[in-house]
Formats: sequence, C-alpha cells, structure tokens
Amino acid sequence: MISINPIKQLLKNEYGLDWFKLENLHGHTDMIYKVTTHRHKYVLKVSLNRKMSKRRFESQINYIQYLQNHDILSPKIIKPCTGNLYTTIKDYRNRYSALFEYIDNLYSPNLSKPSEAREYAKYIGNLHKISHKYNNKHYWYYDPISEETRKLKYLEKFVKKSKRKYLAKLIKIKKDNISRYKKLRPKLGKTMLLNDLSEGNIFKINNNYIFIDWNIAATGYFADEIAWIITWFFIKKNNMKHLSKFLDEYLKHFPLNSIELELLTFMPISYAYTMWDNFEECKTKELFREQEKKILDSSKILEQLIRQVSTSLSHHRATYISHSHDEQ
Ligand SMILES: Nc1ncnc2c1ncn2[C@@H]1O[C@H](COP(=O)(O)OP(=O)(O)O)[C@@H](O)[C@H]1O
Ligand SMILES: [Mg+2]
Repeated sequence: MISINPIKQLLKNEYGLDWFKLENLHGHTDMIYKVTTHRHKYVLKVSLNRKMSKRRFESQINYIQYLQNHDILSPKIIKPCTGNLYTTIKDYRNRYSALFEYIDNLYSPNLSKPSEAREYAKYIGNLHKISHKYNNKHYWYYDPISEETRKLKYLEKFVKKSKRKYLAKLIKIKKDNISRYKKLRPKLGKTMLLNDLSEGNIFKINNNYIFIDWNIAATGYFADEIAWIITWFFIKKNNMKHLSKFLDEYLKHFPLNSIELELLTFMPISYAYTMWDNFEECKTKELFREQEKKILDSSKILEQLIRQVSTSLSHHRATYISHSHDEQ
C-alpha cells in the first residue's frame, strides 16, 4: 500500500493541481482515486501490480491510445506537466500511474435485452478487428493456461483443506480442460487485447461503450476473451437465451476459426465452474449441486449453439483458415 502523501504530492507537483478532494474507489488490483477539483473530476490509477514494468505499462498506454484513435472509447488521459502520458510514484519500487477523466453516468451492459446482446457483440467484434491490426509490441502477462494451472493448484489445496469431497470433480474438469486447451492453443488467434471485459470494467455510455480498466491488457487470445464474456454475461447471469444473437453478430464482424469455436464449447463452462462462488461459497453438497445444475444446463445450450454456428459457417471455412494468426 502506498501512503496518501506521495499521491497528494504527485497531483500537486506533476499535475499542477492546487486544491482537490481524494476519494478511494477501492479497485481490486490497483489503487483508484477519484480526484475532485473545483472544476473537474479525474481518476488517478496507481498500479500495484508486482509484475508491472515500464515496457508493460507503456505497451498498455500505447494500445489504449491506439484504440482511442480508432474510436474505441476509454477515459481520456490527462498528461502531467512533463508532457508524458504517465508518471511514477516511488516507494521501494516504481509505481506506474496515470490520470484520467472521470466518467459520470456509467451503466453496465444489459445483455438480457436481445438488441443489446447484438450491439455488444458488434462492439466486441469491432474491437477485435481493430486490435487484430495492432502492430506494436505486446507482451504476455500470463497466458490463460498458466493462469488455469495456478487456479488448479489452489483448487486442489482448497478441496483438501476444506474436506469438501464433492468438489473433487472440479479438479478433474479443470485438468481435462487445461489439456484440451493446450492442444488447441497453436491454432488460436492472438494479439494485444484487454483480457478483462467484465462488468465493472466496461460500461454503456449514450449509444456506445466505454472500457475503463486495462490493467491486464496484454497479448491474449480472441477466443479466450469471448469465452470469458460468455461466462460473465451469459452463464453466470442465466442469460443463455440471447447468446445465439451475441455469437451470430460477433462472428459477422470477426469470424473465428473452427478451433477457436471448439474452445468456446468448453472453456466458458470451465471458467464458470471454478469461479469462487462455485467452490468457496458452496458450503454444502446441495448448494454445489444447485449451482452445477445451472452450469450443466448452460453447457448443453452452449455446445448445441456452437455446433449450429459451425455448420452455418462451414462454407466460409477458407476465411477461418486465412484468419489463423501468426505466432508471436
Ligand atoms: N474513469 C473513471 N470514471 C468513473 N469511474 C471510474 C473510472 N475509473 C474507475 N472507476 C470506478 O472505479 C472502479 C474500479 O476501477 P478499475 O479501473 O476497474 O479498478 P481495478 O483494476 O482495481 O478493477 C470501477 O469499477 C468504476 O466504478
Ligand atoms: Mg476493474
């Protein structure tokens, strides 16, 4: 944790702000402060990520700027007096920080409305299309497979310690899916992506969307980003009804190859299964079964849907193949 004084000094010395009020917005990974002056509202984001480095932070800022130049909205960066795009706060290490405009009236996307499921799909498809053309350097933060392996280790320890034998099947599910993922990985398209388009990070604004969190923007797989969107906005929300609208529309803007579609048949389910509320919060077998039933129902719908999509797109197979991206 960084104390408040260096933050106040930074806003005074590097941004020339004389009077301001600070309010902690309690970010998950970063330190996020709302900064209110007499005339403006800003957000100061200080990275607390231990893996953050100059080249990573700069690669993220460059990507955000690139997206802004292609009309993909995010809060405008306020430059410090130095004219750079970001500053650092020094405690025992460099903490990278940037100041942004504060955005009022943010609404979460509501994909239970079919029109919005389509609208959001169009936005994500366009975001992927633009990101696909991004040629600047980008770096892995973590790849999804190492992240899943880390989660698997945690899960194994948790099942042992909590003695909840009924959760043991999750370990098998996770292991199986990791090995399936590994096999598909060489054929998955990847580029610099945001990798965290969850609720709380992306909002509706007027007739558009704005993402506000990019602290894990890095090389990522297109299909993995979609897998997480399916998990958060459809499976976890019991909103499978409109997933076909989302997928149809997304694929019109950004066609995935057959391997990428295959990943979508199981990874969203795997992510949903091993979210905290499926094992840490399910204190009884009954609660777990209840959660599991919803996931299994979603799984059936998902498999069927992807099969439909794959058949209807099979005559475009040539597009899929030419779409497979190069290894970095
Ligand atoms: N520019 C902004 N305008 C308005 N609210 C913001 C802005 N940036 C962050 N917030 C608020 O702060 C919360 C946490 O910010 P976020 O960048 O997502 O942090 P974390 O990386 O820790 O998740 C957001 O969910 C949002 O409510
Ligand atoms: Mg966030």
